[in-house]
Amino acid sequence: MSRIGNTHRVTLIPGDGIGPEVTDAARRIIDSTGVRIEWEVVPAGIEALEKYQAILPEITFESIKRNGVALKGPIGTPIGEGFKSVNVTIRKTLDLYANLRPVKSFPRTKSRYENIDIVVVRENTEDLYSGLEYEIAPGVVETLKVITERASLRIANFAFKFAKKRGRKKVTVLHKANIMKLSDGLFLNCVRRVAREFPQIEYEEMIVDNACMQLVLDPNRFDVILTENLYGDIVSEICAGLVGGLGFAPGANIGDKCAVFEAVHGSAPDIAGKNLANPIAITLSGVLLLNYIGEGKAGRIIEKAITRVLEKGEVLTRDMGGSATTTEMRDAIIEEIRRLIK
Ligand code: NAI
Repeated sequence: MSRIGNTHRVTLIPGDGIGPEVTDAARRIIDSTGVRIEWEVVPAGIEALEKYQAILPEITFESIKRNGVALKGPIGTPIGEGFKSVNVTIRKTLDLYANLRPVKSFPRTKSRYENIDIVVVRENTEDLYSGLEYEIAPGVVETLKVITERASLRIANFAFKFAKKRGRKKVTVLHKANIMKLSDGLFLNCVRRVAREFPQIEYEEMIVDNACMQLVLDPNRFDVILTENLYGDIVSEICAGLVGGLGFAPGANIGDKCAVFEAVHGSAPDIAGKNLANPIAITLSGVLLLNYIGEGKAGRIIEKAITRVLEKGEVLTRDMGGSATTTEMRDAIIEEIRRLIK
């Protein structure tokens, strides 16, 4: 992590679509807590393609490596056009092997549930996201699902250590080892080995399709969910739905040397540039970033301010059934932060 005196240096990637709007809001909200951050703004996505002829230029990678920590807006990947996903490239190149996606209940969302507090820990570097796809004959394609002992042990260790550090009670591993006996079987065996080293944490195994149903029926039975890359991607969107949608789902991609914090949502082209996006998900990703750099107190103030704004219910964005803009939500949160730190 890069730090000069009391000032942290953090890479900021605005990204595509709603990215510049929501990252700007998050940055201003974080700055309003008084925490000292020097933001190094670097491009990725369409802006980068126009300026550097690369969707993910070298200067962006260099900045993340130098600072060790980044807040990133979403980046659109054209579907089926030969572009490699920028997000997958960042995660793999920087070996950000753990994807942490926590969801918590906030007041006045469209959620039908209460008191949800689930953390999805997703393996972030392999599985069906290996990017190894071949056309083996006309009309026949193959995608390789890669699972290794090394990556499975590493993510299992991360999940159990996280659970222990945060006082979490239970880890549920999701798998499909009944069908994919070798690949998911290896993953499950690795998790079992690590689970034995943490007897104080309850351990549970669940087939992923059953877990999807259980999440909808009774989400409060889950605490920490540990799973492979693709299942983690899908299950974390179910979790986002449980707490009122993508406007409330933050995320972190963590490796041994760097961490990139981003919301679960994408670039939302349908509402981009209209000042309509909910900035809370990326702001909560900023809260995870603050915890990571040792500024947890500022993070707790932001969470409290968000809760207060939502409890009052005067400023709610469109995804919550309100009519407030991104900037109105940003300003309401900043006003509450000012009250809290007075
Ligand atoms: P999306 O997450 O961008 O949008 C899905 C729906 O949720 C849309 O109706 C959108 O308006 C809404 N939504 C998303 N974020 C919101 C917010 N903050 N406030 C209010 N409403 C919000 O998913 P979609 O449409 O599948 O993907 C669009 C593009 O984003 C694609 O190019 C995709 O590759 C990219 N993407 C990038 C990600 C990243 O950079 N981490 C993650 C997911 C998708």
